[in-house]
Amino acid sequence: MAVVTVLGAGAMGSALTTPAVAANQARLWGTWLDGAILDELRAGRRHPRTDATVDPRVRLYDADALEEAMAEAEVVVLAISSEGVLEVLGLAVRYLRAGTIVPFVTKGFGRDRHGLVRLLPPLLEEVIPPDLRERCPLVAIGGPCKANEVGAGRPTGAVYASRHPGVAGAVADLLATDAYRVELSDDVEGVEAAAATKNVYAIALGVCEGLGEGGQPFHDLEAAVFTQAVAEMRHLTAVLGGDEATVGGLAGAGDLQVTGRSGRNKLYGVRIGRGEPAGEALEAMAAGQAVEGAPAARLARELVEQRADQLSRDALPLLHAINDLLDGAGDPAELLAEAALPPRRPARTGRRPAWGPTSGPT
Ligand SMILES: NC(=O)c1ccc[n+]([C@@H]2O[C@H](COP(=O)([O-])OP(=O)(O)OC[C@H]3O[C@@H](n4cnc5c(N)ncnc54)[C@H](O)[C@@H]3O)[C@@H](O)[C@H]2O)c1
Repeated sequence: MAVVTVLGAGAMGSALTTPAVAANQARLWGTWLDGAILDELRAGRRHPRTDATVDPRVRLYDADALEEAMAEAEVVVLAISSEGVLEVLGLAVRYLRAGTIVPFVTKGFGRDRHGLVRLLPPLLEEVIPPDLRERCPLVAIGGPCKANEVGAGRPTGAVYASRHPGVAGAVADLLATDAYRVELSDDVEGVEAAAATKNVYAIALGVCEGLGEGGQPFHDLEAAVFTQAVAEMRHLTAVLGGDEATVGGLAGAGDLQVTGRSGRNKLYGVRIGRGEPAGEALEAMAAGQAVEGAPAARLARELVEQRADQLSRDALPLLHAINDLLDGAGDPAELLAEAALPPRRPARTGRRPAWGPTSGPT
């Protein structure tokens, strides 16, 4: 029986123990921020963030028991928010053994030591000592997987991507169940670019829902925003070295759809759509849990500036509209309409269409 250790007892880390415990010895390590969650689980109560039960066979470890949690682990899953993932991996590398696979569900951008905005895989790799880097391969996990549904064992399709042949499949062999199914990919950049950017665009989908709380739906605008979001995710993915086709699948449009329906990024957008000032809405929501799309929107905007040779502002109007919304500038419906709808007047040629009316003055 393989040992699978999940680092991070938040919503997603705890949820992943549901498929992991089916065929493995599953362990869940809580960070120094997760003490209260572990207390709840030890008392046999449901996870406070997902309302899912954690199987009693899952072994629980406190923040100071990282070494014990990782002993003999074949797979060490990082389920830490983007703001803390490099620090936690920095602690964990002391106990990594050659051959341990390191999947991660964390979604977002980070910054390298030169201040440049990067996807997470190269930043995570830098934290792993050079002698272990090739022998402790990363696996990027994407796809529409909500923690409460994965935790409860409801049907879910994940995407596991690795640039090391066979590695994503080896992890899938350990973690996949009939309910938690896994698609394999070698497009790490595509999965990660989609994962980081869909949180940003989900805010805009939430704004449309918030606008509709006035009583009249904004479903047409929401559909246009979704379509524009997918187009911009493709553009960003291609520039970040990923395959645009990945954006059309579970890791892209699939994850955007589910993130726009539920979760903190969408709820943040709903509050903005209702008319709450963006800064106040973020403060009200941030207690203990990140709204990852907000910093990711800023980092994506910075990325566009840093890659001005490949990424033009004109090709990413929705990204810029979302940043304007977060800055509190402009009317939400108007900003999103300008970014996602066709231009106000279609270009006119001055000629009558061949099938148009033939009578009257020309
Ligand atoms: N919740 C979901 O449905 C879901 C689905 C797929 C992926 N994810 C991704 O998984 C990651 C975790 O999300 P979550 O929903 O479990 O969040 P969460 O807030 O429930 O848990 C976050 C985890 O990260 C740790 N953490 C947070 N800030 C930290 C810091 N500054 N230093 C060290 N540790 C810190 C917490 O202790 C906790 O273990 C995110 O990147 C998220 O995008 C979440």
